[in-house]
Amino acid sequence: MEHLQNFNEILEEKTREVQAIVYEYLPVEAGFASELAKAMNYSMTAGGKRIRPLLMQESYQLFGGKETDVYPFMAAIEMIHTHSLIHDDLPAIDNDEYRRGRKTTHVVFGEAMGVLAGDALLNYAYETALKVFEKTEHPKECVRALKILSQKTGIYGMLGGQSVDVTNEKQGRFSVDEEMLNYIYENKTSALIEASLMAGAALAGAGEEQIRLMEQIGSDVGIAFQIEDDILDITSTVEELGKPVFSDEKNQKTTYVTLFGVEEARTKAEYLTNQAIERLNQTSAPNEKTFLTKLLEYLVVRRK
Ligand code: IPE
Ligand code: IPE
Ligand code: MG
Ligand code: MG
Ligand code: MG
Repeated sequence: MEHLQNFNEILEEKTREVQAIVYEYLPVEAGFASELAKAMNYSMTAGGKRIRPLLMQESYQLFGGKETDVYPFMAAIEMIHTHSLIHDDLPAIDNDEYRRGRKTTHVVFGEAMGVLAGDALLNYAYETALKVFEKTEHPKECVRALKILSQKTGIYGMLGGQSVDVTNEKQGRFSVDEEMLNYIYENKTSALIEASLMAGAALAGAGEEQIRLMEQIGSDVGIAFQIEDDILDITSTVEELGKPVFSDEKNQKTTYVTLFGVEEARTKAEYLTNQAIERLNQTSAPNEKTFLTKLLEYLVVRRK
């Protein structure tokens, strides 16, 4: 218990540091497009667990990274993730009205501005990541990280997953099987977690084999993370989550929970987490793995 207390304190401290880095890169709310910048910043500053930039920083440090090349990439992954949330909440997709403890962007700024704020954040993510070339001494590693970031975000990553998830609605309980559900989770959720772990390792100069291992870890962690998200959707509260509960039921989604029940879903999430931790121990990362191991364990028992 004392151990856990300690982990929570370290996590809070690290999350504050990550947040301060992300805030450094937010767009300025000025000029004719200031309303767009406000809409972008509205969701970026609403909180959120910041686990993707945190995972990226941990992976960077694990492989011996000691410089600031990772900072613009940390901001970029959080912008891409926040873009995905703003669009995920739109009336055309999940049609949800709360996110990160606030009314969603489209509710406050209108639907048109919600679409544009999501687009602008996605683009600003790359504008931000590219800032690394203003001072890096490792341009090749940065290009590698950019390639990872762009591939894991697009059709062969998060957006591909979201597109299939959209068709996974009102299909009835048996039309989406485990294979399809795995594709959806692997892409809509794992892809950005894989990108975080892989880009962190790439920026620190890790070899191809190590980057692939981080990808596998991200895949397992992401699926476990989404299973837990589905469980929280039916077991938590709006107050605790900061977003609506029963969103999946409202949209008649097939999830791990609808296919296998809460108990089996939880067992699967724990199994994947253990597998990820075993893989983490197989990496030749030179640095201490304790915090990252505990972070992976925490992600499947989180309450929001
Ligand atoms: C929500 O992600 C979307 C999923 C992939 C389940 P998070 O649970 O990381 O959301 P924030 O960033 O903490 O708000
Ligand atoms: C969304 O999955 C994953 C994204 C890429 C945004 P969900 O639709 O379950 O995420 P929440 O529950 O709205 O955060
Ligand atoms: Mg969704
Ligand atoms: Mg949603
Ligand atoms: Mg959900």
